[in-house]
Amino acid sequence: MKKFNRRTFLRYFGLTSLSLFAGGAGTFFTGCNSQSNMVHRKNDIYNYDPTKIENFINPLKIPGDDGPLGIISSPANSLDIVAQTQTLEIIKDRPSNLLVYKLKENDKNYINPVIRVRQNEELKVKLNNDLDENTIIHWHGLKVDWKMDGHPAYEVKPGETYNYQFKIPNRSGTYWYHPHPHKGTAKQAYMGMASLLLVGDQDEDKLNKELGLELGKTDIPLVIQDKRFDEKGNLLYKLNNMDQVMGIVGDVILTNLTPNPYLTVEGRVYRFRMLNGSNSRIYLLAFIKNGTKIPFQVIGTDGGLLGKPFEIQEGYLSPGERMDILIDFSSFKPGEEVYLKSLKFDPMDNEDNDQMDMNKDKMGSMEGMSLINGDEFNILRLKVNLKATSPSVTMPEKLSDLGKLDITNAPIRPINLTIQNEQWLINGLKYEPNDYPIIIKKNIIEVWEIKNHKKSMPHPMHIHGVFMRVVSRSNSPEQVSRLTIDKDGRLATDQGLKDTVLVWPGETIRVAIDFNIELPGEQIYLFHCHNLEHEENGMMINLKIID
Ligand code: C2O
Ligand code: CU
Ligand code: CU
Repeated sequence: MKKFNRRTFLRYFGLTSLSLFAGGAGTFFTGCNSQSNMVHRKNDIYNYDPTKIENFINPLKIPGDDGPLGIISSPANSLDIVAQTQTLEIIKDRPSNLLVYKLKENDKNYINPVIRVRQNEELKVKLNNDLDENTIIHWHGLKVDWKMDGHPAYEVKPGETYNYQFKIPNRSGTYWYHPHPHKGTAKQAYMGMASLLLVGDQDEDKLNKELGLELGKTDIPLVIQDKRFDEKGNLLYKLNNMDQVMGIVGDVILTNLTPNPYLTVEGRVYRFRMLNGSNSRIYLLAFIKNGTKIPFQVIGTDGGLLGKPFEIQEGYLSPGERMDILIDFSSFKPGEEVYLKSLKFDPMDNEDNDQMDMNKDKMGSMEGMSLINGDEFNILRLKVNLKATSPSVTMPEKLSDLGKLDITNAPIRPINLTIQNEQWLINGLKYEPNDYPIIIKKNIIEVWEIKNHKKSMPHPMHIHGVFMRVVSRSNSPEQVSRLTIDKDGRLATDQGLKDTVLVWPGETIRVAIDFNIELPGEQIYLFHCHNLEHEENGMMINLKIID
């Protein structure tokens, strides 16, 4: 029974790892029991069980003029962003203590502002650290100088500030920002610090015109995150050993900080910009009407619009990745409902280990633990309202021009993902702030062959400062290979420019990376797993790019 995997965590390490749990297995079981208490608490007190669609009664928070996820467009002056604690009501009547990015602009208050810019615009931000720990902002997906990228080398202490000023050369797309201090990224992101940075350009203008799309109305960002709350409504970031090795998963699913949301839509085409802002949960996204999958068009991934749309019925989205889609509700009858769901899949979070039977009986008592990776649940309830306001549109055939990367002479760099003594490793290494295991000359195109060991779990591998183009996927598990769209084993969600690629156990992905960086001087970027608990525990390396 695959669902058993997360509960049979001990399989990873066999008998020797029992010593891991300080007081022996007992400690481990205590941790798990408190999790199963949460299940009951959730169902009995909060009614936020996402497997039950009748719980989806909260209007989706849509990025608007101010407040949480308020939109700031092309700011002329420096944005004075404060990293601070903030109380916000997420669970009804039980305000949560979050860590957020706060901004006061023109008498408006923003929490985690959505920053909107045009390609090649300059952004100025002053980060004020009002937390009691170090922090720094990382602009995930932006092609900026490493001093502006939020490398942990530039983290600031409590009470200090950091000034950002950079031009954004990126193509139109859905980017985001979150903290990146050494040993603080996972916790701070989990506690609430994360938001979007949207870039616009002419390709997007054209698309918006053709389809009549408008941000906040028919072009809607969906920041999807899973969290654990305690009885008082506070976020819990307490990791047991299992969480530390596998990553934390929550039993409450938030979209745009709304638990169990619904959205009323007109009978027309919509763009949804989906970001997996979770620490470690992977989603298998699909739109379901009356139990049937509704086809939708993938139009963009991490680095912006694709060359053309790809029609799919389901797709994986791992932490850090973005999937921009179009979905057409114009043929739906008023009153009909469509559910955005994460479908069931095998989490493969404990592959190829023969210790399972040994622990099966003990672990069986933890069946109450809820919503592990790969379980099926709802994310967003879409209700089609009374009238179709526009006729069915034809989807655009061309979106953008991505150009081609010539990799005929590109050297191949092996990247191996393994585990040793509860430590996830990249080429046998864990993060050392002053080590630069990969040194690359500017102006080269490389092919990275990222191989995930068979005895492993899925790793969403992320690179800063540059983009990857997926060349091939091989040895994919069946639940992935059944979604391939070409003979190279690629998925619709592998198209375009990627900054994060999900590598399944046993799988090998080849990606082409163009290191023709148009920034002066040496650049130091990071390559890490975006399962943030993995990143935190050192599944990360420095990358030095030299002239
Ligand atoms: Cu979104 Cu280095 O991470
Ligand atoms: Cu990043
Ligand atoms: Cu990982």
